[in-house]
Amino acid sequence: MQIVLCDDADHAAREAAKWVQALLVQKKRPVLGLATGTTPICLYQQLIRLYQQKQISFASCTTFNLDEYFDIAPEHPQSYRSFMQHQLFNHVDIDRQNTHLPVCFDGQNPRRVGLEYEQRIAAAGGIDLQILGIGSNGHIGFNEPTSSLASRTRLKTLTAQTLSDNSRLFVPGEIQPTMAMTMGIATIMDARYVLLIATGKAKAEAVRQMVCGPVSAYCPASILQMHEHAIVVLDKDAASLIAEQQYLRVAEKENQRMIEMYGLQFIADREV
Ligand code: PGA
Repeated sequence: MQIVLCDDADHAAREAAKWVQALLVQKKRPVLGLATGTTPICLYQQLIRLYQQKQISFASCTTFNLDEYFDIAPEHPQSYRSFMQHQLFNHVDIDRQNTHLPVCFDGQNPRRVGLEYEQRIAAAGGIDLQILGIGSNGHIGFNEPTSSLASRTRLKTLTAQTLSDNSRLFVPGEIQPTMAMTMGIATIMDARYVLLIATGKAKAEAVRQMVCGPVSAYCPASILQMHEHAIVVLDKDAASLIAEQQYLRVAEKENQRMIEMYGLQFIADREV
């Protein structure tokens, strides 16, 4: 794992945006995996700013979101499609046809939707860079603790912890979905690069288990220890329970020096 230590959430968003920028600039037809939730909003604001400054374009970019609530229409204000439209897509030059979410509603068969989502990702050439948040229970996407580490896009039931963490986003009386379609852990691991962002004290224990704990389905994010190119961008609070703080700071300085010398070496060796 390459751990990038940042002062605060804004700093983390700027660091994460550098990776997305490198992808968009370096690849002709970039395939970007996107996440919803509160954490990536700062990143999307950075990307919109870079787009407005004409430093990046999404014109040839294809996107796949990690997850979508089950049995919710894309037009519903609580859908992740709506979230993406509001937070990013409406503000940049992306072609809506090239943006994908695992939408499953109106009697569609979740197994078929999952299979087709996997096929669409493969047909696009696979995901170059997958953005991830982390749940306070260690989930990535909606792969809750005990999810198979070999899982593919499918329907998952959300844990009480996740429902409670996300309840802040629903007004009293509004129905909060309890199930979601989510990329599986194996789907996420297939991405050439993964970029996980975590900020705030509430994520510190999950981050500790992801980085220092055993690889376990009980902390799905811990599988990223097995990823060849996992970048983990943390603010001070989220990183606070990781042992080896001194080492992380030294390694981070060296990493920054290498990036200054060689740029962000984004494209995987096998593509060069
Ligand atoms: P959050 O969610 O960014 O809203 O904390 C992260 C996640 O559940 O992956």
